[in-house]
Amino acid sequence: MAILVTGGAGYIGSHTCLELLNKGYEIIVIDNFSNSKPESLKRVSKLSNKNFKTYQIDLLDKKRLDEVFSTNQFEAVIHFAGLKAVGESVNSPLRYYENNVTGTILLCEAMRKYGVQNLVFSSSATVYGSTNEVPISEETQLNAMNPYGRTKQMCEEILKDLYLSDQTWSISILRYFNPVGAHISGIMGEDPIGIPNNLMPYISQVAVGKLKHLTVFGNNYHTIDGTGVRDYIHVVDLAKGHLKALEKVLATKEIGVYNLGTGQGYSVFEMVEAFEKASGERIPYIIKDRRPGDVAICYANPSKARNHLGWKATRGIDQMCQDSWRWQQNNPNGYNEQAEKQNRREQPVFNHASDFFMPKT
Ligand code: NAD
Ligand code: UFG
Repeated sequence: MAILVTGGAGYIGSHTCLELLNKGYEIIVIDNFSNSKPESLKRVSKLSNKNFKTYQIDLLDKKRLDEVFSTNQFEAVIHFAGLKAVGESVNSPLRYYENNVTGTILLCEAMRKYGVQNLVFSSSATVYGSTNEVPISEETQLNAMNPYGRTKQMCEEILKDLYLSDQTWSISILRYFNPVGAHISGIMGEDPIGIPNNLMPYISQVAVGKLKHLTVFGNNYHTIDGTGVRDYIHVVDLAKGHLKALEKVLATKEIGVYNLGTGQGYSVFEMVEAFEKASGERIPYIIKDRRPGDVAICYANPSKARNHLGWKATRGIDQMCQDSWRWQQNNPNGYNEQAEKQNRREQPVFNHASDFFMPKT
């Protein structure tokens, strides 16, 4: 029986697919490639030396989703598929609610219909909104402050209600802090479309010369050096957290909510310094006003994940920067055509459930 990975071609999904394959799980991926490229899955296949089925399907396409469930047997689902840009969610709230909330409901309906009731769900520290309480534990009041965050908060409520209605479900809700870094091979990493919104991909594009300088959003916060503090977590640690959550949902019948963070906060300037050290490049920056909606400090209390899942982040800030830099240097244009040429493989892509493709190694 396989693990269904929705959004498996994305940044966190692709790293998790690799960890799953390396652990011997059979996986099947669904992705509509709205924010990713099939190339990421080819790299997963290459690194793991394993093939797997991939369906190019939109979660909102009920009929095709049903076909995927009727033609395969799943023991669990890891649900990454979702839109994640905060600013875009403010401008297009309906698109976000439909994609993230309706998508999750349709997925759960298909799961229920086919008796697949083990789920690991991608939530976000964004559900905590603006809180002055740090470190942030799972008990902290939820207060999402934008449509994207509210889609995650709503999905969490829906999943809790689902579990209350039928306790044969088993669900892990994972609240990620700030995922950064890349696979150590340098052939998988984050590939943001257009100009990055997030700090780490922005810094690495400055380091590689694609962007002129970093804009630091505010240096007058009450923090160590005035800049915003976040809990950056290496994407491979995060991926490994999903395997622990998967073990949990397969072994128990309960619902659990877990912070996935390191418990350590770093400021923007500390990240810049660490990246300069890792890359040997200077990161020029200018200071501008605070970005609306940003909080001063946000870092996790990750002890629940340690105690209940047996998971702990092990990769520090230096490795996060070294791995990001290796990925950025090797793939200055991400998974784009240029990069694809170097790794050219026959790659049929189908959009019908019965016409899956296998990424070729
Ligand atoms: P990503 O955009 O790289 O990956 C998401 C994947 O889902 C993409 O491949 C996209 O094409 C796919 N997708 C989106 N909507 C779909 C749909 N309707 N049908 C099929 N596929 C669809 O994002 P990521 O960084 O890998 O994030 C994965 C999950 O984790 C998301 O749910 C995101 O909200 C959540 N999350 C991300 C972060 C972060 O900073 N990266 C932080 C907290 C939570
Ligand atoms: N920052 C800059 N300049 C930039 C980008 C960011 O100074 O160009 C600063 C921000 O002001 C903040 C810190 O760097 O202090 C981190 O910002 P990011 O945009 O990288 O991350 P956020 O903490 O704002 O948000 C991210 C995701 C959210 C997610 C949250 C918690 O974008 O979706 O982490 O997981 F919810």
